Amino acid sequence: MTDIDPRPTVIAERLRGVKRIVAVTGWKGGIGKSVTASTLALLLAQKGFKTGLFDLDFAGASDHLVLGAKGLFPKEEKGLEPPVFRGVKFMSVVFFSENKAVPLRGANVSDAIIELLAITQWGELDFLVLDMPPGINDAALDVMRFAAGAEVLAITAPSLLAHDVLARSLELYKKLKVPVLGVVENLSSGGRAKGADAVIRRDPGLERALGRPAALLKTAFARDLGRAARKLGLFK
Ligand SMILES: Nc1ncnc2c1ncn2[C@@H]1O[C@H](COP(=O)(O)OP(=O)(O)OP(=O)(O)O)[C@@H](O)[C@H]1O
Ligand SMILES: [Mg+2]
Repeated sequence: MTDIDPRPTVIAERLRGVKRIVAVTGWKGGIGKSVTASTLALLLAQKGFKTGLFDLDFAGASDHLVLGAKGLFPKEEKGLEPPVFRGVKFMSVVFFSENKAVPLRGANVSDAIIELLAITQWGELDFLVLDMPPGINDAALDVMRFAAGAEVLAITAPSLLAHDVLARSLELYKKLKVPVLGVVENLSSGGRAKGADAVIRRDPGLERALGRPAALLKTAFARDLGRAARKLGLFK
């Protein structure tokens, strides 16, 4: 009898064709992880990159709302093939929760996420963007462990408390040897942000553009995010 966990090998095999994995994280709620992950995926696809987006936030999946992706479902084909929306291969835990709050906890969430990582067929991708579960719970750590090589795009906000949790999260990533692509301060009112590599300003027009990808790509938010992504070397 052997009790070696086969899943890391299966997941590594599934992600073999993915050149870069960008994990959009943030230790606080409501600081723009989902709008950043979704808009970044749209920007990358617009630039011609083969792009995937995976919403892993079991408690509050929202990328489908940001994108306005309705009526989609993965195809079962030797695993699950993500549907394509606006050039982005899109996978979300919402496909399996039917829009209900999912009462999964702890190990259950981790298991479900690992299961999804193990069965999703991404094929060849230049970028896979992960909208991570908030915080640094078991589920988030498991994703970083299983999606080997993922780089963290850390989102923070201009508040003392957000900066404090950010500092602690960066320390932990260092300890875990997880590469950090960069820190982006979102919801900025302009000016330089201490400890951030780039800023995204508060955009009063963003809310109106949610659910409309073409409008979303034209927002000041998307422009700032594009500038941040260039600065962090995601594209030219
Ligand atoms: N730069 C910005 N300008 C204006 N509104 C913003 C900006 N960034 C985020 N928001 C708004 O803030 C709200 C929260 O954003 P979002 O859902 O992406 O955060 P989150 O970090 O993913 O939250 P959660 O922790 O709940 O998953 C949304 O309504 C979004 O439109
Ligand atoms: Mg979110």
